[in-house]
Amino acid sequence: MLATHTLDSVREKLAETMMPHELAEAMPLIEEIHRLKSTMNVCILGHNYMTPDVFHGVSDYVGDSLGLSRLAAETDAEIILFNGVHFMAETAKILNPDKLVLIADPLAGCSLAESITAEDVRELKRKYPGSPVVTYVNCSAAVKAETDICCTSANAVKVVESLDSDRIIFLPDEYLARNVRLQTGKEIISWERGKCMVHELYRADDIAFARQHFDELTVIAHPECDTDVTGASDFTGSTSQMEEYIRSNSKANVMLITECSMGDNLRSAFPEKHFVTTCQTCPHMKKITLPKVRDALLYKQFAVEVPNEIAVPARRAVERMLEIG
Ligand code: 13P
Ligand code: SF4
Repeated sequence: MLATHTLDSVREKLAETMMPHELAEAMPLIEEIHRLKSTMNVCILGHNYMTPDVFHGVSDYVGDSLGLSRLAAETDAEIILFNGVHFMAETAKILNPDKLVLIADPLAGCSLAESITAEDVRELKRKYPGSPVVTYVNCSAAVKAETDICCTSANAVKVVESLDSDRIIFLPDEYLARNVRLQTGKEIISWERGKCMVHELYRADDIAFARQHFDELTVIAHPECDTDVTGASDFTGSTSQMEEYIRSNSKANVMLITECSMGDNLRSAFPEKHFVTTCQTCPHMKKITLPKVRDALLYKQFAVEVPNEIAVPARRAVERMLEIG
């Protein structure tokens, strides 16, 4: 999705979620980033979990992992600055081997990506020969390289259903695997160690409690939550699918079972809704700040690199996913 552009519209948007002193601190940096951007052929992508100053203030495009992967594959810009976590920037680099892909903080990781290595995948392939391997994009390039096809939270069910096999190795998110198992009925070999450190904190009791206190409540969960949480919700989907669902279906009160900034960013898109926020923050996403974004452009840092022998098979798995949708 194309993000806000002029400084006046940025200021207006941010005033809805930021305190006046926060806005006064952020605006000079946002202006500096806009100035730097105008001198460079750069495309700035911002994940839905970026804080509002990064999300509304400096992104050319915003969206979920799938949408941003598509944009990364299509952009003509010479440089991509990916405001998100490392595996997302790495996916952009896999799709654009000849471009300079930057991330403002290379230590912005992901508990799912850190849970599994390429050797773990090779061992599972030895244990279950002939079963196709699907990996959620929240993993390293080396893990993607061992994979038949990638998926995101937006298309996991579609990807698994596209495979002509009743048994699928699905890595590394245990809870997404459980959700996919329920929806496809296929035998899913999963990875118990893989959990999102944000979404594993939610409980079905949180939802029951909110339903007692709010009439007219729509509960929307991310599929990285366990199945008792998604089962108690009205809709489960990727971060961008959440926004679409609010637009077409939601009631007056909306409870988002996902990372904290999602509610902040959606609040300005839906001023008529009341957001019941359940603030769990992702410490990795929160590493991306305006000063680091400014420095990323100023010093062209930090370049994401993927060795060719890993990038080639990883690209095949990501492109196969993009063909499916
Ligand atoms: P989306 O693909 O839904 O944006 O999710 C990415 C993510 O990391 C959620 O924790
Ligand atoms: Fe990873 Fe969870 Fe953070 Fe998303 S929210 S980047 S899955 S740790």
